[in-house]
Amino acid sequence: MQQMSGACGGYPNVSIALLHHPVYDKNRQVVHTAVTNLDIHDIARSARTFGLSRYYLVTPIPGQQELAGRILRHWQEGWGATYNPKRKAALELVRVADSLDDVLAEMEVRFGRPAKLVTTGARIHPRNVTFGRLTELMGVREQPYLIVFGTGWGLTEEVFDRADMVLEPIKGPGEYNHLSVRSAAAIIMDRLFGVR
Ligand SMILES: C[S@@+](CC[C@H](N)C(=O)[O-])C[C@H]1O[C@@H](n2cnc3c(N)ncnc32)[C@H](O)[C@@H]1O
Repeated sequence: MQQMSGACGGYPNVSIALLHHPVYDKNRQVVHTAVTNLDIHDIARSARTFGLSRYYLVTPIPGQQELAGRILRHWQEGWGATYNPKRKAALELVRVADSLDDVLAEMEVRFGRPAKLVTTGARIHPRNVTFGRLTELMGVREQPYLIVFGTGWGLTEEVFDRADMVLEPIKGPGEYNHLSVRSAAAIIMDRLFGVR
């Protein structure tokens, strides 16, 4: 298998997804969360900066898909596209999808093999993979990877159970560990793909 460093041309085999369902709310009920403008823009900019392939916004709610579509069209086709071409370049990575299954199916068609599913979260998990090991694995370009981030109170157990790997959590020195998904995604992408 071909092994390449991410520094030359990025990681065309790696995509990310932001799940708005299924995720927990504060009472551990499985809910649908709302798409946010900041999550679309900031995570897309990180994905573009670190040379990733696609950023999937996953929500099955038609009204939320429509909202995401309107935001994307504004910055890709409208006045926004000429006002800020750098933003347009980041948002070109974004795809709106109904479900995690749809994303995995699309990736399988695109790459001709199933993507490895990697979940993220703030807690230690028995199937944790280190940042270093995952970077090493993703250097094999023929194997597609999907790194999944949560909204609300995080990804459900069902999503963790489906994962091929669970990425080790980001940790600070103390007990408090409540990063926004935008911050967590940027830190994770820097650790996995950043040039040192
Ligand atoms: C639970 S959501 C919180 C969303 C929050 N409502 C917001 O405004 O961003 C945060 C997501 O970011 C990621 N995340 C947060 N803290 C993390 C950590 N310490 N290590 C790894 N990933 C983390 C996970 O994908 C998690 O599902």
